Amino acid sequence: ADPALRPPVRHFLKDDDLSPAEQAQVLDLAEAMKKDRFGYRPFAGPQTVAVLFDKPSTRTRISFATGIGELGGLPLIIDAGSSQMGRGESIEDTARVLERQVGAIVWRTAGQERIEAMASVSSVPVVNALTDEFHPCQILADLQTVRERFGRTAGLTLAYFGDGANNMAHSYLLGGAVAGMHVRVAAPDGYHPDPAILRRAAEVAAETGGSVAVLSDAARAATGADVVATDTWVSMGQDGKEQRIADLAPFQVNAALMSLAAPGAVVLHCLPAYRDLEISAEVLDGPQSLVWDQAENRLHAQKALLHWLVSGAGAVTEPV
Ligand code: CP
Ligand code: NVA
Repeated sequence: ADPALRPPVRHFLKDDDLSPAEQAQVLDLAEAMKKDRFGYRPFAGPQTVAVLFDKPSTRTRISFATGIGELGGLPLIIDAGSSQMGRGESIEDTARVLERQVGAIVWRTAGQERIEAMASVSSVPVVNALTDEFHPCQILADLQTVRERFGRTAGLTLAYFGDGANNMAHSYLLGGAVAGMHVRVAAPDGYHPDPAILRRAAEVAAETGGSVAVLSDAARAATGADVVATDTWVSMGQDGKEQRIADLAPFQVNAALMSLAAPGAVVLHCLPAYRDLEISAEVLDGPQSLVWDQAENRLHAQKALLHWLVSGAGAVTEPV
């Protein structure tokens, strides 16, 4: 079909693809869906949603498969090695085939440019299920978790410790800024965020009343933080494990660091966690940790996002 004649389609490739008002709308819907888990069925009949993985996954795979089923759709999980894309069929040709049959495309891949290429030709929504640069679905779940505890996101301080150049750091910066949070990334030299993403997050924060900062001093970053977050020191596809562990050691989330955070501070980790590397077992398994709620909220947040995207942006519906 002539792209000019197609209805506008919305994708979710990075955190600021939702405006602040839209992000709030999706999070409101996620909260409603958590209370009425089987009450929303935007897919009329068993419409397929393709969920493609070029990297391993536990949570993302389970939550999308479960959520798509609960929305009345049919999840089709495809691992790279079992599709022709894994043998070199182009991203664009894959999108052209998929868009004629499925209601949405969810993809975990490496470079952000790959998912941008998929979205550039797809007439159905494309959702980023993690790239090297961003993990925006995870941040929606994290924001839902924060709202459950604090009743809001705006004005809270979120401090992230560790690899400041990875997908989680970038998505906290951007998604946290959209949510009006004060986001601090604490990381050593050589692990600081992509400057272009940091600039964009600062621009967004200026509109929402939030702020962004990069600090090389973990103690300063922790002081007064409401939300303390971390992620693995060695992301999928990264080399140099021993060097990374040595470099990032001063940024471990542990009881000493938590003692500097605000009273009532909570701890987030997208998981999988490596106990006593990026986070002490004591903190991960302790009373401030919300990591299991956070993992569950992947389900609710992604259902809300898919509902919002396939129903037409903004057309948030009542339960059926
Ligand atoms: N947090 C997260 O995305 O986990 P998986 O890699 O298991 O999907
Ligand atoms: N930064 C991690 C997140 C895993 C969910 C990675 O990319 O491996």
